[in-house]
Amino acid sequence: MTSAHQGLTGLLDTEAIRKDFPLLDRVVHDGKKIVYLDSAATSQKPRQVLDALNAYYERHNANVHRGVYTVAEEATALYEGARDKVAAFINAPSRDEVIFTKNASESLNLVANMLGWADEPYRVDHETEIAITEMEHHSNIVPWQLLAQRTGAKLKWFGLTDDGRLDLSNIEEVITEKTKIVSFTLVSNLLGTFNPVETIIRRAQEVGALVCIDASQAAPHMVVDVQALQADFVAFTGHKMCGPTGIGVLWGRQELLEDLPPFLGGGEMIETVSMHSSTYAPAPHKFEAGTPPIAQAVGLGAAVDYLSAIGMENIARHEHAITEYAVRRLQEVPDLRIIGPTTAEDRGAAISFTLGDIHPHDVGQVLDEQGIAVRVGHHCARPVCLRYGIPATTRASFYLYSTPAEVDALVEGLEHVRNFFG
Ligand code: ALA
Repeated sequence: MTSAHQGLTGLLDTEAIRKDFPLLDRVVHDGKKIVYLDSAATSQKPRQVLDALNAYYERHNANVHRGVYTVAEEATALYEGARDKVAAFINAPSRDEVIFTKNASESLNLVANMLGWADEPYRVDHETEIAITEMEHHSNIVPWQLLAQRTGAKLKWFGLTDDGRLDLSNIEEVITEKTKIVSFTLVSNLLGTFNPVETIIRRAQEVGALVCIDASQAAPHMVVDVQALQADFVAFTGHKMCGPTGIGVLWGRQELLEDLPPFLGGGEMIETVSMHSSTYAPAPHKFEAGTPPIAQAVGLGAAVDYLSAIGMENIARHEHAITEYAVRRLQEVPDLRIIGPTTAEDRGAAISFTLGDIHPHDVGQVLDEQGIAVRVGHHCARPVCLRYGIPATTRASFYLYSTPAEVDALVEGLEHVRNFFG
């Protein structure tokens, strides 16, 4: 730690934590150790998760809910045990409210399709409205556009303020008596903004609309308590929170999951099947057709154990300190414009910026040559780029293993980019 880092409080013991993440030891480009600043796209995986995946495949691999033999029962216990771990992690009132999907996109598509095929009082049709925001990831836009196209429902949007926050000044026009569902992100993947959940939920409840929260950029970084949030659905993905790819979660309120229809049909989601019709298993199985992502769920369970042992409050505190430091240091770089809030209080650890008129792809490439991994582009949130009149951004994102020295490396790297492009 240098003198510039002295004032930083709340940091985790990253020296110990980083030993758990083999990839952070990777050397890229002329012997330079990787500076991994793309955890908002996907996090690195600790040894504990990799070991759980290996142990599953080496000792317990079988299909779940089917076999009567020892290994199959072990596989089922591990898969369902992962559900228990996730339920505890998000403080779900019941394990049956946790549906495993393949990612957050699938979770959000599942909600859109449940409502699209539902009967009253949930049905979305040409007389109803759907409310989303301009800062959504495409995964929380396109499913609603598809639903609106199919049903004739009207899609309404919250706009953005110049400083990267939701503009709720017209909340009563966006969420009306016709609104059936309000879907929004807890933390923006591009802007980093934390959104005012309570205000939006209060208005949705006033008009009897359901609320779906995309917690993909929140669940890895802070306590996400579904009971405290008071939403109806919460979606997130495993691979951004130290888990493997191929596993996502949809939490839904039990009575909704009981009432709403399934989207995908197939094995394991049924009670009985005849040539004329089928009846369905209770939730969550009603929504998990076919062989599920068993190993991935087990890996997510191990990730939840890992994060819980460190403590989500501690992780949030660490990231807050790193974010505050990064926002401060980045603002020292000439011509750098942060796209999103510049106060650490109401933002997460994904920081997007532009650097003069240097194209973000060029910024990313020159940073890569220095071993620094950032994401460039529209980050699957193109309406945000359109709103701010930019084609793309460079985004640095931090996690529990990120260090102040990596922030310094980024700032030095950006100086190099500026020199390179004159
Ligand atoms: N949703 C991921 C991101 O923001 C892929 O990078």
